[in-house]
Amino acid sequence: MCRTTYVNGRYLPHRNAMVHVEDRGYQFADGVYEVCEVRGGRLVDERRHLARLKRSLDELRIRMPMSFAALGIVLREVVARNRIGYGIVYLQVTRGVARRDHAFPVPEVPPSVVVTARALNQARNEALAAKGIAVVSVADNRWGRVDIKTIGLLPNVLARQAALDQGARDAWFVNRDGAVTEGASTNAWIVTAAGTVVTRPADHAILRGITRTVLFDVIKTQGLHLEERAFTLAEAYAAREAFVTAASQIVLPVVRIDGRVIGEGKPGPVATALRREFHRYAEAG
Ligand code: PDD
Repeated sequence: MCRTTYVNGRYLPHRNAMVHVEDRGYQFADGVYEVCEVRGGRLVDERRHLARLKRSLDELRIRMPMSFAALGIVLREVVARNRIGYGIVYLQVTRGVARRDHAFPVPEVPPSVVVTARALNQARNEALAAKGIAVVSVADNRWGRVDIKTIGLLPNVLARQAALDQGARDAWFVNRDGAVTEGASTNAWIVTAAGTVVTRPADHAILRGITRTVLFDVIKTQGLHLEERAFTLAEAYAAREAFVTAASQIVLPVVRIDGRVIGEGKPGPVATALRREFHRYAEAG
């Protein structure tokens, strides 16, 4: 099937979908993005993802390229044209095309908007969740505003590759205090020996994941105790369970960190239950 991609007002065959070489996303990573899960052909938590997109754009002083309603129509159109049942839709907005100069373009130029969609293999993702993943720790050398979902992801790219090079699937960033901040493209969680679910507060040092936000509701209804606080790598090694969350993976159990076995070395009951229950609490558009 020929894939279709949205670029600045047009639906194009994927192979012809291009932006200009002087797009500020290309030259400065001057833009933001969102990734939304698609399930049964529907967008999961579209409203929350678009609200976060708006926040990211506001933080960078890039204007919303179109209304929430119009953006929603484009997202759904790309999903439909690509006949995605299960997969992800990717939305990117940059400050637009202008002669290369670090300062914002004067006069202002229209933001560039790109939307792609891709099917994922559900059976493969379920198998991955049933087995659990390995992660490795890496130094968190990112800038101080990773709460903004920018396309400037070089540390995340290098971290993920470092993980793959060591036979792991994800990398966990660890800051100078020895605290785990988050994964290369996920939020990081542990379950302590006492059964408390712990994840870092959403300060400027992590992205406030949409999956993370929805999972708070699931945790509450499961009668679990949640602590939003920083946790160290040492604590993670000693945890009963660990897991990561992201729109593309929902809840993925972690069974090994830096080669050390976590808990019983297989997905634990908390992560498994949270994964199973998640979509009862997410918004299906
Ligand atoms: N990543 N932290 C980082 C650094 C991320 O890149 C992501 C998402 C998350 C989880 O956020 P959410 O639950 O809203 O997906 C946390 C996306 C999926 C990506 O870059 O592909």
